[in-house]
Amino acid sequence: MNSKQVIYVMGVSGVGKSTIGKLLSEALQIPFFDGDDYHPKSNILKMSKGQALNDDDRLEWLQTLNKLAIKQLKNNSCVIVCSALKKSYRDILNSGIESYTKWVFLYGSFEQILDRINKRDNHFMSSNLLKSQFDILEEPKNAIKIDISLTPKNIVEVIKKGLSGKVEFGLFGLGVMGKSLSRNLANKGFKISMFNRHVDGVEENIAFNFKNEFEELSSALPFDNIEFFVNSLQTPRKIMLMVNAGKIIDLVIEDLMPFLTEEDILIDGGNSNYKKTKERFDYLKSKNIHFVGAGVSGGEEGALKGPSIMPGGNKDTYKEVQPFLEAIAAKDENNKPCCTYIGTEGSGHFVKMVHNGIEYVEMQLLAEVFSILKAMGNNPDQMAHILKSWKEITNSYLLEITIDILRKKDGDDWLVNKIMDKAGNKGTGNWTTITTAELGVPSTMIASALFARYTSFYKEERIAVSKNFKSKDDSKLNLTNDDILKAYQFARIMNHYQGFKLIHEASKSYNWHLNLSELSRIWTNGCIIKSDLMVELVEIFKTTNNILSNEKIIQQIKLLKPTVKKVVSECILNELPIPCLSESINFLNSFAIANSSANLIQAQRDYFGAHTYQRVDDDTGKFYHTNWK
Ligand code: 6PG
Repeated sequence: MNSKQVIYVMGVSGVGKSTIGKLLSEALQIPFFDGDDYHPKSNILKMSKGQALNDDDRLEWLQTLNKLAIKQLKNNSCVIVCSALKKSYRDILNSGIESYTKWVFLYGSFEQILDRINKRDNHFMSSNLLKSQFDILEEPKNAIKIDISLTPKNIVEVIKKGLSGKVEFGLFGLGVMGKSLSRNLANKGFKISMFNRHVDGVEENIAFNFKNEFEELSSALPFDNIEFFVNSLQTPRKIMLMVNAGKIIDLVIEDLMPFLTEEDILIDGGNSNYKKTKERFDYLKSKNIHFVGAGVSGGEEGALKGPSIMPGGNKDTYKEVQPFLEAIAAKDENNKPCCTYIGTEGSGHFVKMVHNGIEYVEMQLLAEVFSILKAMGNNPDQMAHILKSWKEITNSYLLEITIDILRKKDGDDWLVNKIMDKAGNKGTGNWTTITTAELGVPSTMIASALFARYTSFYKEERIAVSKNFKSKDDSKLNLTNDDILKAYQFARIMNHYQGFKLIHEASKSYNWHLNLSELSRIWTNGCIIKSDLMVELVEIFKTTNNILSNEKIIQQIKLLKPTVKKVVSECILNELPIPCLSESINFLNSFAIANSSANLIQAQRDYFGAHTYQRVDDDTGKFYHTNWK
């Protein structure tokens, strides 16, 4: 600890300020003062009548505590506990001794604290009273912020580290996502170190310039030297890598390795392949370094304002980084963070990969809707108008951005009309398709969406082939906007069925014990596939892992099915490509069938390769072979 300091421990009633304050004073061997012992008589009288104190009542009391702090500083450091919920209160406590004070902010959720208080003997706090404290709470910047779920012993350890002056969290790689996450962390009051490499003439002073650009980064430390960056961090170090997925991750790990010490934690926040994450986890384990593979969704804006985060690895390691990740994550409708421990190994990156697979399909479905609406003669503004009316029925982030996109003009035309129709990809849809094939799970819509992108890429060949097979230009789609909406809704349900089915099957194969309800919960905000449907799934997955067995979903499918058949048929008759819409109904037709045509496949396999088959009239499971000639 630095020479003399006043350590103020603050937070709402019930966070355990006195307990922690006393333990801390013992650990540091400095005096302890409980702010509550310094109230003037008038305040005590008021409080004993159950009346809340106002700011005037508090003034004298806060000034007394400030004087106490100044007096103590003359001889020694000390710990003072005081709720200090507003910035103006803290300004009084700090007055004249700003550079000698350290703030420790104990925090927990409303439910957690209420539960704690009411479990204590002879203690009861009404939820209204506690709520009023949360309402006035202005979170301190630059405080050592501690989650009260940790044990008191651990809390004191974290405070001691915080007092060492070293930084709590490191961000490695200041690309678009790394920058947004850095600002998000700083906005939440964390002191961070930021690293970006130096490449002559290409990447120079990135971290330094970035720090100067944003007010919230005033206490962040910028680096382009790995050793200095690592040494600025408290141990065990927590470093989040925000660099491109692939070989680069391994190179960065090797660059960091010489400066890391045992028990340090690396978090890979990129879209890494889940199998690679497992390999890296095992490799780093052999060096006693912990590794968390965390999927992060939400793009640039999500990373800044609150992404959805899917961390996988060792649960104890997760607990170490939990306060940081949960603080920066988006919040769900109950104000819970859209971040949860996913499971062991590469499960975090696995679910992020499937998230992207679902994302590919949601995007492709909207592209198909776009082409149908276009074929029906709508211009982009008219399409935007139609899609806007769908929001009440089936809203999603992707629907909303599509409406914005459709409205964007470029000169006299709409921008979308000027964009080259070749869809790119960074590989996650490809991995999902490979993985679903490897695991033997029929995520057919993800494959269709991926192949639709690949097909689009052959622009020149498409132009040539289109000349040989001249399409009908007089499309006469006998459809209403409502038909298209229903088909779209149907296909979205099937997409979510397939995506979550893949996750469930992988969970069984890899023994990950993934919780589909919790997973859909963290996808209700912050991520690209957030939607009203996702919110519905949170409840549905509490009772089943198979949405096709849920009564409400069954009723919806029954209602929508006749229309999707009509839409798909009309499109095919009019030569409109709709690979995902058609796959949605084809899949249900193949799946909702007790007796399929696979008996013929089995017979063929047995005919040419003696692969054997089982018989429907023999339930022993015995395998038969026939001499077919
Ligand atoms: C997200 C996105 C994000 C992304 C990928 C996939 O959840 O924030 O999924 O990870 O957009 O880069 O994009 P591709 O379409 O390029 O494969």
